[in-house]
Amino acid sequence: MGFNADPRFFEAMGSVQATPETLEGLENWRDLAPLQQPTYTDPAELETVLEELSSVPPLIFAGAADLLTSRIAEAAAGRAFILAGGDCAETFADAQADKIRRRIQTVLQMAAVLTYAGSVPVVKMGRMAGQFAKPRSSDVETRDGVTLPSYRGDIVNGHEFTPEARRHDPHRLLQAYHVSSSTLNLIRAFTQGGFADLRRVHDWNTGFLGSNPNYHRYEQIAREIDRALKFMAACGADFDALNSVEFFAAHEALLLEYERALTRIDSRTGNPYAVSGHFLWIGERTRDLDGAHVDFLSRVHNPIGVKLGPTITKDEVLRLVDRLDPDRTPGRLSFITRMGAGKIREKLPALLAEVGHELPQVTWVCDPMHGNTITAGNGFKTRRFEDVVEEVAGFFDAHAEAGTVPGGLHIELTGDDVTEVLGGGAEIDEEGLRRRYETLVDPRLNHDQSLEMAFQVAELLTKASRA
Ligand code: PEP
Ligand code: CO
Repeated sequence: MGFNADPRFFEAMGSVQATPETLEGLENWRDLAPLQQPTYTDPAELETVLEELSSVPPLIFAGAADLLTSRIAEAAAGRAFILAGGDCAETFADAQADKIRRRIQTVLQMAAVLTYAGSVPVVKMGRMAGQFAKPRSSDVETRDGVTLPSYRGDIVNGHEFTPEARRHDPHRLLQAYHVSSSTLNLIRAFTQGGFADLRRVHDWNTGFLGSNPNYHRYEQIAREIDRALKFMAACGADFDALNSVEFFAAHEALLLEYERALTRIDSRTGNPYAVSGHFLWIGERTRDLDGAHVDFLSRVHNPIGVKLGPTITKDEVLRLVDRLDPDRTPGRLSFITRMGAGKIREKLPALLAEVGHELPQVTWVCDPMHGNTITAGNGFKTRRFEDVVEEVAGFFDAHAEAGTVPGGLHIELTGDDVTEVLGGGAEIDEEGLRRRYETLVDPRLNHDQSLEMAFQVAELLTKASRA
């Protein structure tokens, strides 16, 4: 996994060799009016918290971030496929062993299907252990004539609709660090031991198929995996060597005070790395070229991503590459497209035709969630499973047409049986959303919908890998 026991990773954070210019550059974002930041009322309180965060141990090591860069580079070249999954917004209350286990289990189950279908390694990432900050379209929320600050994620304020909960509280930055740390600890435990055994993961998938009404559509691939595992066993494959998997932590780098306080200088290279997670991305709302987020992430050496919505232009893409990946390092930069099912077939082929071949080092990833959010008749924020799948199909078709590489998938999911997304095998309808709607921000695929998605993407991936 991404937290290797290799002692180099521990030594790497030893002494600081940063040049003054490097350190100065890390403060540049402050002059660029960062969007979507909290407003704290007590500067001294914030200062105390940031000082503490500046001296806590790193959550990840520079060497592990580099390892992920090399894995993502394989995906850019079509020799691997990325699967990133997890909550829209993690919460402190949900950092419980069972929930974390079910989320990891879901990603591993999906990965097993995709590995078989694509015949390539799947690079597994969680929107986990740090995905606590949310950009919002409005600073305030009004309910029954009462107006309070919007909920911006547990790292900023509480969801409860009271003035006390909605206050922006700097102590939550520290809490986010500690919850991330204990989540990572569990991720390590679950991905290093027998839990990740491929045979066991396949058994879970077989169990899922038994109860899915679309069983017949997926039966063949499950049977093929079964035969492949038996073949491996007959050949004497060492399954013990296969039962620990790499799993990386990813989140949106939204709160720049937090990211700055958790940036350390790697003594091997003298380069700064964000140590809050392996992979950080810039959201659709904060990706302006001259903005603070692009500036800050241009200075850390982690692998990074940028979300691209339907208004993106060729020019912006090329300038983002110049800012964020000037050396054209394979694996450094991923573009995570989120166009919407209705727009992807128009927007993505045009964009790829213009820039795709100039950027072989970039990894193209599909986020089929954020362009497909709708409000149901009864007020629930939701998405249609069929739109999500249709955007992934449009993504694969666009890359096939342009001759570029579909490098991965980025989705919002949970391992629980929630009812937040419409459709899927269980045919959740608008009334059904009431049964178990738990997300505080965006609707997530539940466990069954996630697996169903994996089997449908498997068909697309098989077609793409044979093309
Ligand atoms: C997200 O990934 O949760 C998100 C807010 O996405 P986007 O920036 O693409 O809207
Ligand atoms: Co979201």
